[in-house]
Amino acid sequence: MTPGPFADDQVPFDLLRKRAFNLRWATLPPDVIPLTAADPDFAVAPPIRQAIADFALSGVYSYGPAEGLPDFRSACAAMVGRRKGLNVAPEQVLAVDSAAAGMLHVARLTIQPGDEAIVFDPVDFLFKAAVEAAGGTVRLLPVDARTGAIDLAALPGLLTPRTRLLGVCNPMNPVGRVLTPQELQVLGDFAVANDLWVLNDEIWSDIVYAPHRFTSLPTLSPAIAARCFTVYGFSKTFGLAGLRVGFVIAPTERTFAELLDVSLARTTMSGVSTLSQVAAIAACTSGWDWAGGFLSHLTRMRDLAVGALQAVPGVQVRAPEGTYVIFPRVADLGVDSERLCEALLTEARVAVVPGAARWFGPGAEGHLRVCVSTSEAVLTTGLQRLTDHLRRV
Ligand SMILES: Cc1ncc(COP(=O)(O)O)c(C=O)c1O
Repeated sequence: MTPGPFADDQVPFDLLRKRAFNLRWATLPPDVIPLTAADPDFAVAPPIRQAIADFALSGVYSYGPAEGLPDFRSACAAMVGRRKGLNVAPEQVLAVDSAAAGMLHVARLTIQPGDEAIVFDPVDFLFKAAVEAAGGTVRLLPVDARTGAIDLAALPGLLTPRTRLLGVCNPMNPVGRVLTPQELQVLGDFAVANDLWVLNDEIWSDIVYAPHRFTSLPTLSPAIAARCFTVYGFSKTFGLAGLRVGFVIAPTERTFAELLDVSLARTTMSGVSTLSQVAAIAACTSGWDWAGGFLSHLTRMRDLAVGALQAVPGVQVRAPEGTYVIFPRVADLGVDSERLCEALLTEARVAVVPGAARWFGPGAEGHLRVCVSTSEAVLTTGLQRLTDHLRRV
């Protein structure tokens, strides 16, 4: 068992059953184990809790600035500089009420109705959802769901006169790859050569397992940086999903102003709660010891899950290089993944996400997505239920 904050007895089941929505504890019968939405089952880092408590007790909750609190913007800029080698000014950082909202703002800025975006397939549904909300359509860049290899040779064939945006998810949800500098160079050069903007989603960039290393796309060259809107959020590394907080780094002063306009934050019709920004500042400045312990725990949970799934005949699984989701291929079992998930829920009492087009695109078919950001005890029980059922299919 992992000691400290990630020990078996540290999972606050009562609170999770009241507060963890989005396919998790609060939405399922009490005997079901959710290995669904990528959201940790642990209380957040103590310095974040303290910062929230201090701010809450201070009693002043006035409007914040549209672009985000100055301390938030400088903490985020310093954090990406220190941890990702990404040198940006605080003035390039826009506070957003989640990475998801940041993706929408970028899509609404770069896509006019009828325009097109190239996105990975499979990838998190938010890429398609953001592009479509802006009135655009997606063209799918195939990713081999078994190996996580991106079919980079397919890129030129996806280009049309209406292509405006390239979506990059690094590390990749759900296939768990961490993009190599070579892959990123090809994607970045393609964007530069074809005047595309890049929706560069780095929300998973802290969840990378040794020996793999994260490279931030805009660090490759000034020309590539000039095309990138980089999105980060505090849900995955720090468990702040319910506080809805993240940021977007705009490439230039001008694009920053345009992004702020489309975000509607200037009107106060959108924007991030100052309390959430205070939590995020604490994460950036004082959350890394906790996050380091979380990553060590996750490394063990990843290995546990991969080992258990590898032992099931007919299931193929690869250890993710990043993210805390595992993406086993179950196509050889001969059951459609939606139906398999229904049976897992009703019969085996474990919930996982089907590799369905509505979640990840058509390239996810034949897979399941299993989240491992829980305790060893919960995961062991969940995996036992999952693998017992898969053996019987
Ligand atoms: C790749 C990716 N981008 C964005 C998000 C959204 O994160 P947030 O909770 O900040 O909206 C997620 C969450 O699952 C994700 O996996």
